[in-house]
Amino acid sequence: MFFSFEGIDGSGKSTQARLLADALRQRGLDVVEVREPGGTELGERIRALLLNPEADINGRAELLLFSAARAQLVSAVVRPALARGAVVIADRFHDSATAYQGAGRGLANPDWLAALHRFATFDTLPARTYFVDVDLETAEARRGDRASDRMEREGQDYFERIRTAYLRIAAEEQARVCTLDGRAPVDEIQATVLTDAVRHLS
Ligand code: ADP
Ligand code: TYD
Repeated sequence: MFFSFEGIDGSGKSTQARLLADALRQRGLDVVEVREPGGTELGERIRALLLNPEADINGRAELLLFSAARAQLVSAVVRPALARGAVVIADRFHDSATAYQGAGRGLANPDWLAALHRFATFDTLPARTYFVDVDLETAEARRGDRASDRMEREGQDYFERIRTAYLRIAAEEQARVCTLDGRAPVDEIQATVLTDAVRHLS
């Protein structure tokens, strides 16, 4: 079973991804956690390039680099894990590219992007996606003083377009995407996610 977590930077999705992984491991399941971009040697190198505040990267190159990192992650880690029956939990996956590059950078129409995602992921898409939704102010406060990477240096409009895109994806794909109120306490969100995940696993 393949789960992904999505949300704007500072939404709390990494916290939830980790907690779900821990809870499922405690139940004896084989769980593989991955983060995007990254998770392979090539992916971590691409991550360093993409997040470097000094880097000059145009939007098209950015989309293709995120897609390249994803293709490597899927072939080297995600597909082998799923093939042996493990649960894979991804901290960000293809919806991040739809929201950040598609809407945030204003690149490509949804049909074109969907085809790119299928290509880059070898048609391996999450069965269930948890979208942790918070307002921009809450996310910014949670990011706090943490040093901004290249992606986080954009203004409010950019993050607003990304959040709107996530809300649209959630509305269009209700069978896959579960939206969570990210302003709720960590434990409360976790309980909702765990109940939902266990239901999907059985
Ligand atoms: P993201 O992966 O979305 O950037 P993180 O999971 O790293 O977000 O969380 C960002 C910060 O917010 C961390 O300091 C984390 O402890 C805190 N945090 C996460 N979830 C919540 C929550 N539900 N309520 C309050 N603080 C939270
Ligand atoms: P990261 O430090 O992992 O952010 P977070 O803690 O919020 O998950 O940085 C990943 C950044 O890359 C984040 O700003 C979102 C962005 N991103 C894209 O723009 N497109 C993508 O396809 C992916 C996977 C991430």
